[in-house]
Amino acid sequence: MSTLHVVDHPLVQHKLTLMRRTECPTKDFRQLLEEIAMLMCYEVTRELPLTEIEIETPITKCKSKIIAGKKLGIVPILRAGLGMVDGVLTVVPSAKVGHIGLYRDPETHLPVEYYCKLPPDVAERDLIVLDPMLATGGSAIAAINFIKQRGGKHITMMALVGCPEGVYALQKAHPDVDIYIAAVDEKLNENKYIVPGLGDAGDRLFGTK
Ligand code: PRP
Ligand code: URA
Repeated sequence: MSTLHVVDHPLVQHKLTLMRRTECPTKDFRQLLEEIAMLMCYEVTRELPLTEIEIETPITKCKSKIIAGKKLGIVPILRAGLGMVDGVLTVVPSAKVGHIGLYRDPETHLPVEYYCKLPPDVAERDLIVLDPMLATGGSAIAAINFIKQRGGKHITMMALVGCPEGVYALQKAHPDVDIYIAAVDEKLNENKYIVPGLGDAGDRLFGTK
């Protein structure tokens, strides 16, 4: 079974509280999501292997550490995952960016695919899937299915707010995918929105409702 990492860093929790509030304006919501993504990326990349290289400082030659091995890729799920991209790229500027377009059908709440474009060398990259909301888990599961169908193997999920149903569904469908999340809320409501959650993340991010 995959590991669930709840990122309980005070900065992340504080910023998430600001985002949840109904009165948080679009501009602040956008900025806070970007900042949280940057902070969470710090945790997600904590276990990256290091290797030593020889360098020369102005004083002397020495051995020093750099990140070894595979390169990173990030895959935001449209639309709301887009709000996490710049935060991650702030700390991992050379990551390649794929995109997966999914929306939840308003009646069935099942994900509907409309776009998928991934880096060609997806099989050789450590991939981080970005989506602030893990509700039923359907969107994250479908996105990771697409990535695996195209050869992706080393995948981590980075989300902001989830609920037990979504976490369980994702862990069951993809037991090899670790989940980093800032909060696991109480439950889903009858419209499959997270309670208390923060509402519709895409609409709040882009000001569409
Ligand atoms: C939201 C959110 C996730 C999905 C989560 O997207 O950004 O992608 O719902 O729900 P799930 O876990 O039940 O699948 P939405 O479908 O509203 O599309 P949008 O981001 O384009 O608004
Ligand atoms: N999608 C959202 O944006 N919010 C939820 O609470 C559930 C799905």
